[in-house]
Amino acid sequence: MILRTLIVSLLSIGAVAASTTTSANEPIQPIKAAAPKNIGMVELGKMLFFDPRLSKSGFISCNSCHNLSMGGTDNIKTSIGHKWQQGPINAPTVLNSSMMLAQFWDGRAKDLKEQAGGPIANPGEMAFTHELTVDVLRSMPQYRARFKQVFGSDQVNIGMVTDAIAAFEETLVTPDSRFDKWLKGDKKALNQTELDGYKLFKDNGCTSCHYGTAVGGTSFQKMGVREPYKTSSKEEGRIGVTGKAADRFVFKVPTLRNVELTYPYFHDGAAETLEEAVDVMGRIQLGRDFSKEENAKIVAFLKTLTGKQPDFKLPILPPSTNETPRPKPFG
Ligand code: HEC
Ligand code: HEC
Repeated sequence: MILRTLIVSLLSIGAVAASTTTSANEPIQPIKAAAPKNIGMVELGKMLFFDPRLSKSGFISCNSCHNLSMGGTDNIKTSIGHKWQQGPINAPTVLNSSMMLAQFWDGRAKDLKEQAGGPIANPGEMAFTHELTVDVLRSMPQYRARFKQVFGSDQVNIGMVTDAIAAFEETLVTPDSRFDKWLKGDKKALNQTELDGYKLFKDNGCTSCHYGTAVGGTSFQKMGVREPYKTSSKEEGRIGVTGKAADRFVFKVPTLRNVELTYPYFHDGAAETLEEAVDVMGRIQLGRDFSKEENAKIVAFLKTLTGKQPDFKLPILPPSTNETPRPKPFG
């Protein structure tokens, strides 16, 4: 019995050691499952993420543009905001966004908390104000009770709102993709085409920008290193934050986790398919013209990055009260 336990524990130590060595030599690391510290805060953040009453229209929630049933994005070229306004830029996924070095394509928000206040008050997105957000939430006893439970006070303020949303977003990670299983030592998790694709991805230098746990999100890089990127979008990226001429058309390298789900691609949403995005990247970032077969292999590899999607019950939101400010859908 003792011997058996010993063997079992030795075996498991061996397995851990093997799995560390497998991924330690790779430019991509597996995603760890979320380990939320404050469940109450996460639950509250989830309610806020799904609550359209944080918008002027009473119709648009974070989930409208970052749909958690569709990879945390809206799958349209550029987002639709208040009164059907056409947004200027493609909505990035909220999945694994806690792993990014900064938020937004140009990195203008340093973290998820700072980011979360933005869309609520953006006239082209939710078109609300932080004051009204607080009024709406304070008007519902069930919300007040939740805030009291989590923050020790029911005097709701916008800092609490963004803290809770950020805590929820930190749980939106997607572990256990087939690629991660392979990284952890399950050699059967990928087929030969996918392995060939990963080799092409590494050997051609895609990993010089798309690396780390999120396969991106770790640096700002020029869009169009070898040849300029042609686009009708007016977005110029990082220069808007730093004011440096060298930062024109520099964008945060997007995560390629779940990229199968987050079409269309690029900040202007111009690439409709993964094949097209890979073709453009090869040419303008690396000066490579991939053959049809090579392109297909890289695409096959990229699809192995689709992880386990967040799985939870839809939050049931408290009803508005007579005191709740009314939505202005057409105002
Ligand atoms: C009308 C559509 C829309 C709504 C509503 C919206 N977003 Fe976004 N979101 C976007 C777009 C578009 C961007 C990219 C903007 C940019 O980079 O300039 C973005 C960016 C983000 C990012 C940055 C991700 C990254 O990788 O840089 C996060 C996180 C995020 N939104 C969370 C939220 C939260 C939380 C809410 C609700 C409070 C919300 N969004 C509401 C469209 C929307
Ligand atoms: C020099 C850095 C760099 C290299 C090398 C690079 N990329 Fe990118 N990649 C980026 C940046 C920056 C973007 C975002 C550009 C934009 O939207 O304007 C991007 C976007 C993408 C996207 C679209 C993701 C999305 O959600 O919109 C895919 C797919 C992609 N890259 C795949 C690849 C592949 C495959 C390779 C190798 C053939 C590669 N990249 C090489 C920097 C790089």
